[in-house]
Amino acid sequence: MEPTAAIPRHVAIVMDGNGRWAKKRFMPRFFGHKQGVDALVKIVLACADRGIEYLTVFAFSSENWKRPSEEVSGLMGLVLVAVAKYLGKLANDGVRIQIIGDRSQVSDKLRAAWEQAESSTRHNTRITLSVAFNYGGRWDVVQACQKAIREGVPADQLDEARLSQYMALSHAPDPDLFIRTGGEVRISNFLLWQAAYAELVFTDCLWPEFGEAELDAALAEYARRDRRFARSAAS
Ligand code: IPE
Ligand code: IPE
Ligand code: MG
Repeated sequence: MEPTAAIPRHVAIVMDGNGRWAKKRFMPRFFGHKQGVDALVKIVLACADRGIEYLTVFAFSSENWKRPSEEVSGLMGLVLVAVAKYLGKLANDGVRIQIIGDRSQVSDKLRAAWEQAESSTRHNTRITLSVAFNYGGRWDVVQACQKAIREGVPADQLDEARLSQYMALSHAPDPDLFIRTGGEVRISNFLLWQAAYAELVFTDCLWPEFGEAELDAALAEYARRDRRFARSAAS
């Protein structure tokens, strides 16, 4: 049986709009990103309180390297600050943290912070937070194929279920609800494979302003949807 419950097991969020939020306040974009981290910490716990088991957030895309180098290095530094500031709290609150994305291009310091976040929370069971960093949906499909080939999986045995085992989110079921803040109506190379049957919700709310009320509105919208998974509509 596919999930039909009113509360999604897995929510994925494209956390967009930090820059515009800061601009509206005549502040540098970095201020928006910083505020975005605080919004994320609150939303993780709000999701856990509502019984959501998996939350996957888009923090930095494979394509975000195209931004000005000061913004990119600001974001990298912010991750280190965020881990130092919030890891203890999230760990105590029962959050299991997983990082998805290509780690080969990030600094040793950042890799070490990710490893610390994962290892210090690996026994937690309240909610799994997967942070997509240097992640792209296309990258994910390619890296999964590469792993399968390296392991010598024969072509005729590589079906959808088998390939899924090599994808970056193999530790989670497919997302049920896919939210994008910031007003753009696009996927921007987030979970291309895994979001095949996710319900999509787009909101104009800028990410730093996304709080419990906005989460509840998205959940209410999700609960109204008729998930058919390719079956006929009820007559
Ligand atoms: C999303 O906010 C965060 C990242 C992509 C890192 P943006 O930085 O894209 O904010 P806008 O879309 O420019 O407002
Ligand atoms: C998507 O936002 C990536 C993240 C939120 C990390 P972008 O701001 O990079 O996406 P585009 O450029 O509007 O498609
Ligand atoms: Mg954006």
